[in-house]
Amino acid sequence: MENEIVVGINRTGLDMAHLSKGDMIDYAQAKAPRAPENDGAFEAMHMAYIEEAERLGSVPVPATMKAMAATAVQKVTGKNPEVLIDKLGERLAFERTGTRLYEAMLLKCGAVDSGDNNPIDVPALGRIRDDEEMHFHLVHKFIEQLGADPTSMTPCADVVGVQGFGLMQVISDPRTTIAQALNALLAAELADNASWELLVELAEQTGHKDMATEFSAALQSEAQHLQLVKGWLWQTVLQEAS
Ligand SMILES: [Fe+2]
Repeated sequence: MENEIVVGINRTGLDMAHLSKGDMIDYAQAKAPRAPENDGAFEAMHMAYIEEAERLGSVPVPATMKAMAATAVQKVTGKNPEVLIDKLGERLAFERTGTRLYEAMLLKCGAVDSGDNNPIDVPALGRIRDDEEMHFHLVHKFIEQLGADPTSMTPCADVVGVQGFGLMQVISDPRTTIAQALNALLAAELADNASWELLVELAEQTGHKDMATEFSAALQSEAQHLQLVKGWLWQTVLQEAS
């Protein structure tokens, strides 16, 4: 695979046709379709859609009698246990995607020539992949302990699934370089770290001490992932530039 940024025939910029630049601008101004003057209709239509839209799915009712009773008790005391279930569903979806992102990255690293500019420690990359899977099982365990269904897609799980599409596309595209794929992993790890932090706080606030303790350990390993990925990206880009 090509693993470096090169100078080549790129015709996307105006400077490629320096002499006819003025003509092109004149032509575009004369012929290209224009967006209508803003009379507020676009915003009004969007606002109407936002106001009328239904929500993005729901958190399922617990299937077991015990969990149903626990939910009812919490509801009576003004608590919303579904928020925690929704965020756990989100982490479950994200860790699943994370595992796949690292699998795609391992594949890409396998295709790079050993002489190429690749500072990635592949065994460490494999360990991060395993951590992501371990975190998936950890979240799965706590969802089950709460009497919820880990196979259901919660609204926030749906949202992070959509977010992850772009990251997966970047890494699995055969044309992207190691540095470009690392950039996508960095976005994933930044979001992952912030999300685990929130989840630890949420577990503590909702009185789930064991969950908060185990999630704190997961957060620590996520912080290491972030440092590794960021370091590899820096090394790759700075080496390539010098
Ligand atoms: Fe991670």
